[in-house]
Amino acid sequence: MSILTIPTQPFSDQKPGTSGLRKKVPHFQQQHYLQNFVQSIFDSIDVPAGATLALGGDGRYYNREAIQIILKMAAAHGFAKVLVGQGGILSTPAASCVIRKFNTYGGIILSASHNPGGPAEDFGIKYNTANGGPAPEKVTEAIYARSREISQYRILDAPDVALDVLGLSQLGDMQVEVIDAVADYADLMAELFDFSAIRALLASGFRIKFDAMHAVNGPYAREILVNRLGAPADSVMNAVPLEDFGGGHPDPNLTYAHELVDIVYGEHAPDFGAASDGDGDRNMILGQRFFVTPSDSLAIIAANATLIPAYRNGIAGVARSMPTSAAVDRVAAALNIPCYETPTGWKFFGNLMDAGKVTLCGEESFGTGSSHVREKDGLWAVLCWLNIVAVRQQSVEAIVRAHWAEYGRNVYSRHDYEALPTEAANGIMQHLRAQFGTLPGSTLGSYQVASCDDFSYTDPIDGSISKAQGIRLLFTDGSRIVFRLSGTGTDGATVRLYLEAYEPDAARHCLDAQDALSEMILIAGQVSELHARSGREQPTVIT
Ligand code: G6P
Ligand code: ZN
Repeated sequence: MSILTIPTQPFSDQKPGTSGLRKKVPHFQQQHYLQNFVQSIFDSIDVPAGATLALGGDGRYYNREAIQIILKMAAAHGFAKVLVGQGGILSTPAASCVIRKFNTYGGIILSASHNPGGPAEDFGIKYNTANGGPAPEKVTEAIYARSREISQYRILDAPDVALDVLGLSQLGDMQVEVIDAVADYADLMAELFDFSAIRALLASGFRIKFDAMHAVNGPYAREILVNRLGAPADSVMNAVPLEDFGGGHPDPNLTYAHELVDIVYGEHAPDFGAASDGDGDRNMILGQRFFVTPSDSLAIIAANATLIPAYRNGIAGVARSMPTSAAVDRVAAALNIPCYETPTGWKFFGNLMDAGKVTLCGEESFGTGSSHVREKDGLWAVLCWLNIVAVRQQSVEAIVRAHWAEYGRNVYSRHDYEALPTEAANGIMQHLRAQFGTLPGSTLGSYQVASCDDFSYTDPIDGSISKAQGIRLLFTDGSRIVFRLSGTGTDGATVRLYLEAYEPDAARHCLDAQDALSEMILIAGQVSELHARSGREQPTVIT
């Protein structure tokens, strides 16, 4: 077996987005496209002799081919060993768990998260560092810079590696160990949570439904919820991962997880419903005919953390992305712990967790997690809720309402305008920026603008600065409107509009969020000229 050096030309579009490089599958299948990016990763990270790499993906179309290419390239770059999930599978949180547990040098995760999969759909790749988290911007910038000047890549000329049988094999000078994709992660969950309390809850007739959305978490949910916690087998639906996610959009929200939503709002509704996304890191939590917004979920987990064995002694601090509601800020204030506001993207939490400043983090985009790994973690969030319900012996809805009664409610909604022409989306943002001078102090309907800005973040640990992370209109009563361009779409541009109003009055907590926010929705449309500029009357998705 010999190492081949293959001449190549740079591609100009390999800039990693919010969470790695994501493109349509045919784009990745262009000659040398994936190889160039992988070489750019290896060139940017100085692989030390004897290093181990973790490797796995969410099983979407092109996963297996990509794994073979990456294995052969790793073998040509001095890695001593690659730990690869059986069948090439690792959920994103499981990959983070494996990197940390086995102290690997880093990991490569193949996923386009919640984007659809299939021959004409999305594929993605990202690099995670030794802490188990997504590479920080200085690393992704270096990878991008390298991809602009690359002229060759190295790959071992070798037959494909068998990925379906556990155990060791040799690829040139490198070992490949095919590991059980689920076991290490399931063991970690068993350490964090009170499995016997959850088992008792389920045995008492508390009925759950988990929708794996034909994505990677099916086998994880089966092992944990059914095998280890004793839930009936039909508690997990769409549990067989498919390369195209059954043609669906594996994003756990009220729009795309409608099959679950119909059940949870239906006649024989279970007590608890949940779903996760393509790569298993996002989550949606539902009670019986009741939706928990991700921002509230984070706040409620924080407020109840000491009921969970792993957090029994309290949490060091919390962090949320800027567009996430300030519900968790109120919990942090009550607990007298710090609360950090970061740009969108899980990678911004890594430094805070590594420095021990925060234990729990969350994002409005259906991501919640803790320092047990360095990715957000869908099943972890589900287990948090089951653990809390098991201890409090209250329904999900009762727990949320009690939380609002105690802290007030941050009424919240996000409106997405997907797949807009890029110029239209940029025009909306420019139009808003152009008003920064005149908006403060002005009155919009019954709201008064206190300030507006383009969110910028200075990382308190390494001092790195991230600018232009979303436009904020802050009102004098603490309400907010935020506009942001998505960093994960692959189809044109997506404008996200985030709306938040604080409601202390418990008598008004029963209002539907869209009704409670209706005036603000109108104001947001007017001030941004969103409808005229996008040509859309309605958002594509409301969460
Ligand atoms: C991915 C990241 C999240 C982030 C989200 C934002 O899921 O892992 O950390 O919140 O993207 O997506 P957006 O499309 O809003 O940039
Ligand atoms: Zn994801």
